[in-house]
Amino acid sequence: MLPLLFVAVKVSCRSDSRADLCICHDGDAYCEPANHAILGFLRGELVVDAGVRMGVLNRIGVALDSDLLKRFDRFIAKLGYTNRSEAFRDLIRDRLVGEQTASPDAIVVGTVTLIYDHHAHGVTEKLTELQHEHHELVVSTSHAHLDHDSCLEVLIVHGQSAQVEQFAGRLIGLKGVQHGRLVKTVPPHALDTGKKTIPRHTHKHPH
Ligand code: NI
Repeated sequence: MLPLLFVAVKVSCRSDSRADLCICHDGDAYCEPANHAILGFLRGELVVDAGVRMGVLNRIGVALDSDLLKRFDRFIAKLGYTNRSEAFRDLIRDRLVGEQTASPDAIVVGTVTLIYDHHAHGVTEKLTELQHEHHELVVSTSHAHLDHDSCLEVLIVHGQSAQVEQFAGRLIGLKGVQHGRLVKTVPPHALDTGKKTIPRHTHKHPH
């Protein structure tokens, strides 16, 4: 039988009141009896949004085997997380962003990072030409001369996922480009609403 672990967000916890995560092992003396009463009925394989709400946060219960939990703790410690809640949230968001940006017609924002040797025949001209050809996808570019030969170029891109991917593929595939990577994402509100469009400017500022 799996050891049952309860993960609660924003519950009071005697062990560490600063942390926003309280890990309550069954019968753990650290935990408030009241929390145990609430957490008791969350017992199960995985309970998401069980209807226990504290402010805007939901409390969930997750059953994990000890080895998996140890590996998870080592993994998040390496990344510098100080509590499991934030690590769980980031992992969930990462999967949701991946799922949303994978849809070909989703509107995404992102970056294309390119490393190339500017001596390579025609690469600078071809990069410029391609970017002009797809100017509607390019928000901005930034260039750094890394050394005598190598250039780093980062493009901020915005548009339909499939078009952005195709454009990035053509840039990365150019002869003379030594390494390239496309990162696609969506702002948090797009995740919350599941909207497929991202207005370029929904806020007021001078530019
Ligand atoms: Ni350069």
